[in-house]
Amino acid sequence: MSVQITVNGTDHEVDLDPQTPLLWAIRDALGLKGTKFGCGVGSCGACTVEVDGMALRSCAIATGDVAGMAITTIEGMPQGGGLHPIQQAWIDEQVPQCGYCQPGMIMAVSAMLKETPEPSDAQISEQITNVCRCGTYPRIRKAIHRAAKAMSA
Ligand code: FES
Ligand code: FES
Repeated sequence: MSVQITVNGTDHEVDLDPQTPLLWAIRDALGLKGTKFGCGVGSCGACTVEVDGMALRSCAIATGDVAGMAITTIEGMPQGGGLHPIQQAWIDEQVPQCGYCQPGMIMAVSAMLKETPEPSDAQISEQITNVCRCGTYPRIRKAIHRAAKAMSA
């Protein structure tokens, strides 16, 4: 069996059962290792990717269910040869500690800023539910505000 998926603007025919979680299509079939496995049950957000602009937890969605939709992973974030403003804000605010949660965190933030370009602290708390075991939440919040400012300039 195979499924056609579109990841970071490129179409791929992946040879797997359509019920396979999207996370494994991304990591194992396509070799894109930026998207992380954490809990495997849709709770931590380490595996977050964008699908048609919405943040989805790829461990909890079947590959066949997103066939033909536009999937973006952390590898697809750089723009025009440079970092995406969210990635730049993450560097400027020195957000990552171990870094493991951060690709999923950035993808969740990317989706949020499409809907809510200038989020309040309360909106950030409500919408970004990804888990960071290193406790980088205060820096994440600062980086989101920095990215929002850069993207609206
Ligand atoms: S690995 Fe998918 S939500 Fe935790
Ligand atoms: S930076 Fe280590 S889990 Fe978030």
